[in-house]
Amino acid sequence: MISYKDLGLVNTKELFKKAIAGKYAIPAYNFNNMEQLQAIIQACVETRSPVILQVSKGAREYANQTLLRYMAEGAVQYAKELGYEIPIVLHLDHGDSFETCKSCIDMGFSSVMIDGSHFPYEENIELTRRVVEYAHKYDVTVEGELGVLAGVEDEVVAEKTIYTRPEEVEDFVSRTGVDSLAIAIGTSHGANKFKPEQCERLPDGRLVPPPLRFDILEEIEKRIPGFPIVLHGSSSVPPQYVEIINKYGGALKDAVGIPEEQLRKAATSAVCKINIDSDGRLAMTAKIREILATKPAEFDPRKYLGPARAELKELYKHKIINVLGSDNKA
Ligand code: 13P
Repeated sequence: MISYKDLGLVNTKELFKKAIAGKYAIPAYNFNNMEQLQAIIQACVETRSPVILQVSKGAREYANQTLLRYMAEGAVQYAKELGYEIPIVLHLDHGDSFETCKSCIDMGFSSVMIDGSHFPYEENIELTRRVVEYAHKYDVTVEGELGVLAGVEDEVVAEKTIYTRPEEVEDFVSRTGVDSLAIAIGTSHGANKFKPEQCERLPDGRLVPPPLRFDILEEIEKRIPGFPIVLHGSSSVPPQYVEIINKYGGALKDAVGIPEEQLRKAATSAVCKINIDSDGRLAMTAKIREILATKPAEFDPRKYLGPARAELKELYKHKIINVLGSDNKA
């Protein structure tokens, strides 16, 4: 058993309290490799932002859970070396069983999500409650989920959104003891968040997605005032990256994300954690495609991964400053 406290990590409790009071959201960025982690830490140190490093099931399979944990431990030292100590959370994204959550807690994660949202309500409560009971013994915070997001994120796939039912949230939160709640108000996983027929098509061909259901968010806030809310599926799918990818041989059709103004608005509410993964994937892919296409003789991975990392850092800084508002909150 390794405590995250010995690794210099923190849980989400204090961060969320401050984020709700200060009307901003903490970035929850996914990472699978060294360049992504470097970009996240550089961006957060430069903007003085707290950060939640997220590890998904796909990341654990791709990079190995132990290695990712040591990388997060290294990130704490790396931030110090860059000149500013920021609060860093190591979070399991979409934990799918008690055993997975336990194994992360035992190896030094400071926060876990148990995603029982696809189970019947009572089963979701029972599974979440069990994880909370174990996690809280070690002061690890737990995120639960009510409602189902549409879209694809590694193994998490759903055809359509099932909006969170506000009438369930009080009961769920009090019976499970969770520290934060992920809700479904119309965000969605992946780069193709909406089908074209769900959107309005502008004369220039761009798609305008349906607006987030702020009415549901408000109703939830009324029922559990001050309780930390999480938004998954919050990439905005920047058109400039989609354009570069398609220009250099990619085939991303009708990719559309959540408009940044809507996320900005959400960040001023009880939403205090916003999950962003796909936008980082798009930024990296765009840069790498561009370099491989324009410099065909290049074969040193550092020559395309380095610029991809620099692009990622700028993207993460932009989100922190212009969307989440978590700059200078570390
Ligand atoms: P995006 O696919 O919108 O980046 O969402 C990521 C996410 O919710 C991770 O849990």
